[in-house]
This record gives sequence, structure tokens and C-alpha cells, in this order.
Amino acid sequence: MEIFLDSSNLDEIKKWMEEGVVDGVTTNPTILFKDGVRDVESCTRGICAAVGERPVSVEVTTNDHEEMLQQARAFAIWSPHIVIKIPIVNQDGISSLGVINKLANQHIAVNATAILSFNQAVLAVKAGASYVSIFAGRIADEGNDPAVTIRNVRSWLDMWGYTAKIIVGSIRTVMDVQAAALAGAHIVTIPPQFLPKMVDHKYTRETIRQFNEDAAKVAEQITRAQAAAAD
Ligand code: E4P
Repeated sequence: MEIFLDSSNLDEIKKWMEEGVVDGVTTNPTILFKDGVRDVESCTRGICAAVGERPVSVEVTTNDHEEMLQQARAFAIWSPHIVIKIPIVNQDGISSLGVINKLANQHIAVNATAILSFNQAVLAVKAGASYVSIFAGRIADEGNDPAVTIRNVRSWLDMWGYTAKIIVGSIRTVMDVQAAALAGAHIVTIPPQFLPKMVDHKYTRETIRQFNEDAAKVAEQITRAQAAAAD
């Protein structure tokens, strides 16, 4: 399974790159807004430089299909590793499948985003999306179990041999990461604030404290034995 960072914070991205756990990055207009990004192109180019050949998803910011295509083509020039996030429908519920299909036919990688149901994922893959972003937290907001959607989409992809990958986003807790991973996500895109919580454990700290204390005791015994032998 791959881990993406759901962030436009370059310091966090560089930090977790150095930890060796980042396979890609996703952003969206809300993340860019919250991170205080004013120049999306320069920020995205910076992220691409930091992550090398890993994919970086950037989302279109319009409700109009023709403008989505124009933005997508402009974003795609920033780096060969840009993936264009296209919402499965626009804010009026009009299908964006045609946009996904046109971009895919032009060999521009598409991440079909804001996927909340099995059928949306199926149609996005059929239209040519390389990634389908299933929003786990938002599925749960509506009283449904995201693991069921993730598992069903994964079974369907595998059953028919599609190469599209499931990205699970909308991660709200550390437990959501585990649930998505075990349900069959190819990728979980994680807000960076959850990674320290994922890596740490108070009993691990205690265990290592004990090891360090015992190692210090052994070192002291050796020093004493050496001193005694020298007398
Ligand atoms: C995923 O690609 C999205 O950027 C993100 O995870 C959406 O999550 P939200 O429900 O917190 O907005």
C-alpha cells in the first residue's frame, strides 16, 4: 500500500519524505486555503521538486467543464508527475465523466475526486480515471461505512483487471488509516498531523527506556571490570 500526504505544507512534505514514507501528495482548494497558499503554481512546483517522480494531485477550481479542461492542461505543464483532480460531478450534479475521458485520452492522468459511492467509482474508472479518491470521512458523515465502499470498489477493480488505484482520503482519525488499509485501499492520503500519532506508542517509549537503562548498566559493569583488572 502507498501513503500519500494530503497537504500543501512543504515543510511537512520534506520532513516525511526524509522519513521515507511518502509515495505521493494530494491537495485540494481547501487544503491550499488552510495552508495559506496564494500562488498555487509555485507551491505545486515546489511540492513536485520535493517529491521527485512521485505523483502530485492538484484539483481544478471551476464548475465549468471547458474551464476544467483548460485548467487541467495548464496544470499538467507544471510537471510530468501532476495528476489532475476532477470532481466526479460539479456542484450542480452535472457529470464530469466527459472531462475525465477527454483528459485520459490526451494522456493526462486523472484523479476522480469526491467519490462517495461504489457507482461513482465504477463510472470514473470506466471513463479513464487513473485514481479514484474515496472520501472515507464524508461517507461516514452520512452514516455509512466507508470500509464497505472501499472493499467493494477494490473487489470490482480486481475482478475485471482494471489498473486504476483507490486513494482513500478524508481521513479524520488514525483509526481511519487502519480501516482504509485493511479494506483494500491502494493508497491512503493522510494529513501530516496524524503521522506522529501513527508512529508513536507510549509502551514503545517505555520499552526503549528500559533497554537504554539496562545497556547503561552493562556499560558501567564493563567499565568497573576494566578498572578492577587494571588495578
Ligand atoms: C483527498 O484527496 C482530499 O484532499 C481530502 O482527503 C478531502 O478530505 P476532507 O473530507 O477532510 O475535505
